[in-house]
Amino acid sequence: MAKQTFEVENLSLHYLTRFGDKIRAVTDVSFTMQEGEILGIAGESGCGKSTLVNGLMGLFIPPLYPSAGDVRVAGESLMNRTPEEVRKNVLSRKVSMIPQGAFNALNPTRKVKDIAADVIAAHEGGTDSTATNARLMERFQLFFGKETARILNSYPIQLTAGERQRSVIGISTLLNPQMVIADEPTSALDVSTQKVVIKMIFDLLDAGIFKSMIFITHELPLLRHVANNIAIMYAGEFVEKGTAEQIVFSPKHPYTKALMGAMLSAEAGQKDRKPVAIEGAPPSLAKEIVGCRFAERCPVVRPECRQNKQEIRMFADRLVRCDYAE
Ligand SMILES: Nc1ncnc2c1ncn2[C@@H]1O[C@H](COP(=O)(O)OP(=O)(O)OP(=O)(O)O)[C@@H](O)[C@H]1O
Ligand SMILES: [Mg+2]
Repeated sequence: MAKQTFEVENLSLHYLTRFGDKIRAVTDVSFTMQEGEILGIAGESGCGKSTLVNGLMGLFIPPLYPSAGDVRVAGESLMNRTPEEVRKNVLSRKVSMIPQGAFNALNPTRKVKDIAADVIAAHEGGTDSTATNARLMERFQLFFGKETARILNSYPIQLTAGERQRSVIGISTLLNPQMVIADEPTSALDVSTQKVVIKMIFDLLDAGIFKSMIFITHELPLLRHVANNIAIMYAGEFVEKGTAEQIVFSPKHPYTKALMGAMLSAEAGQKDRKPVAIEGAPPSLAKEIVGCRFAERCPVVRPECRQNKQEIRMFADRLVRCDYAE
């Protein structure tokens, strides 16, 4: 059996605001990942993707609190640890994140090679600068080729958006983490740069520099090309999880169907149809929600859906959170 590298069990995450509100950003998320797996997570803005990412890295920085559940990397729980402990012992080595905005992720006053050297020093203690430089040259050469020296000796402002994002990816994966979480790694880039960045991520995966990945994006059709499995999130919950093929070509949850309709593209093989917007808005996460969270927008809603909480269960060989899925 393939090795399970990452286990998430009934994870719920809340923001407790200064005004006393409790925002239930993530509710009861469970999944496991195996070595080599690429899991795509898609859902509308505000559905809890980035909050989930923080939870998956064990980064609970107020006002974010875990209210239930567990996250384990290689069998080791990330719960009940301080952010400092997580940063030192877990991040970069076990789980590493590729953030959305490369500009914010790089200290503008330091050269790329110094930012990268800091990551090595923080995890491995005092290091010899000649050895570090040689190590950085070797790693960055994999994706920057003859541009490597220029990139390493530049300040972030001197690089193009694509070079910056690729530098961030190079730095995030320096310590060969077991798993990488990419939170919309290409959303701030133009289409041709997006391709270069995606190729780099997959080159690193092919080279065995990291073994598994969670890839978060608004673009469901893109996930068909990059992910083995896809989870669809709505209002803090996973509503459907299956293979990329199942989710893209035969979605079962009414929200997944609506999302696919809203994202129709030539890539999904439906170039003759026009995208259909999903009417309405997701429910407020500040209140306890009774019944199905998608009920207000669901085209096939029944009276029971507003009363009965929907549990995620196996249906048509994948997980679906809808008693009336068909
Ligand atoms: N610091 C915070 N305090 C209170 N609520 C927050 C905080 N950060 C996020 N939220 C709320 O938590 C919910 C989930 O937000 P999150 O950023 O995880 O969504 P997302 O799916 O990543 O959205 P996007 O696609 O826009 O990046 C939203 O309702 C958001 O308003
Ligand atoms: Mg986000």
